[in-house]
Amino acid sequence: MTDFNAIDQRVFPPTARRGRDCGQLKLGEIRATELAEQFGTPLYVVDEGAARGKARAIREALQREFARVGTEATVYYAGKAFLCVEVARWMVEEGLNIDVASGGELAVALTAGVAPSQIGFHGNNKSDAEIARAVAVGVGTLIVDSEQEIARIAAAASAAGVRQRVRLRINSGVHAGAHDFLATAHEDQKFGLPLARAVEIASSIAAHESLDFAGLHCHIGSQIFSSEAFRESARRLLGVYAELAEVLGAPVPELNLGGGFGIAYTAAQADSAPDIAVLAAQLADIVAMTCGELGVVLPKLAFEPGRSVIGQAGVTLYSVGTTKPVQLSGSDAAGDPLDLGYDSRLYISVDGGMSDNARPALYGADYHAVLANRASEAAPALVRVVGKHCESGDIVVQREQLPGDVAPGDLLAVAATGAYCWSLSSNYNYVPRPPVVAVRDGEARMIVRGETEDELVAKSVSFA
Ligand SMILES: Cc1ncc(COP(=O)(O)O)c(C=O)c1O
Repeated sequence: MTDFNAIDQRVFPPTARRGRDCGQLKLGEIRATELAEQFGTPLYVVDEGAARGKARAIREALQREFARVGTEATVYYAGKAFLCVEVARWMVEEGLNIDVASGGELAVALTAGVAPSQIGFHGNNKSDAEIARAVAVGVGTLIVDSEQEIARIAAAASAAGVRQRVRLRINSGVHAGAHDFLATAHEDQKFGLPLARAVEIASSIAAHESLDFAGLHCHIGSQIFSSEAFRESARRLLGVYAELAEVLGAPVPELNLGGGFGIAYTAAQADSAPDIAVLAAQLADIVAMTCGELGVVLPKLAFEPGRSVIGQAGVTLYSVGTTKPVQLSGSDAAGDPLDLGYDSRLYISVDGGMSDNARPALYGADYHAVLANRASEAAPALVRVVGKHCESGDIVVQREQLPGDVAPGDLLAVAATGAYCWSLSSNYNYVPRPPVVAVRDGEARMIVRGETEDELVAKSVSFA
């Protein structure tokens, strides 16, 4: 029989457990109610040990496996998943570089004291000011995302009197998640340059005196669960790599295969989510084998994981405001195995929603929730956790079974909210963004301040 009080550590961080004495969820050895009392709800909680541990494990696995096949791997943390000064510091301390995608993310990384040479700067529409700043501070690599950008970066570098390292982002035509990879590499999307023109464009970069061609880049998507898409993308990229080495008369220094390693958000995904050690070994074998087939030397590799580093370290705590049973008609329940046997769904409204977690509304993402302030032996109810915003798509957890006595005043914990939640948050309905608190060994530290209604109201310019 399912235990609806169980804390599934395949989805929650490793320190998450239910206190034997109190029945409460504890995170980093701190009770959920203590966190809620001290910082309020909604509250983003990040388990520092879990984030650091994942960063280290991913870096070590990739470095070990690529060393096994005779080359090196550098790991960048993709800051878009969740970046603040403290997290940038953790990542660098765990041996990762930082990938930023805007002037703002660059400013955070620099404020954290990240060495500019350890920063990669992405973006399909970097402004001249962003490029100039990146060049001026000595950013390690700028990733070229359009032909126009080549001249812009070259001009900024020559104005600064430096040679700027750049990588070329290639659109390999491989879409993670798609069953069929595109036959041609002419994808109808905004990122990268077409595979078919990669040699020509890379050669033009290499011809610029103020640019140092550092290699190729490709990011094929997110929530990737198998190595198949990476295999195809690496094969295509290595084809360009081999051709380019001939044209340039020297090996291409580095191949960056991007991020995208998937994680489990729900128990249903837990068994199929990739084990990073296995994935790293597969990736190293794929690259080594393809280089062998093409008769080229192995390049240095780089990766940019975000979600797989920080996603499962995060938990969001919400207070329950209202609950409402809704009768299900036959068609509501059809095709949904969890709905079988339930003739009603309990809507649980919490004090946040799509403003602190846009992913369900943006991508139809699903999450896993548990009752956090107590254990309960009540019979389970089919529930949907919804937010407080003026959208019917304002859903936090699509379907879950929770003890049926969930009531106003209870606390819910939603797992795996570390990535793309705070970073995609908004002030929809003038709801202030919650703070982010790091927990570790019984201590809680606020690492991102929350907003107040006064701050939001003060943004309006009044002429009265
Ligand atoms: C260029 C690039 N690198 C890395 C990432 C990180 O992907 P993930 O968080 O899925 O690992 C992204 C995500 O969109 C990306 O666009």
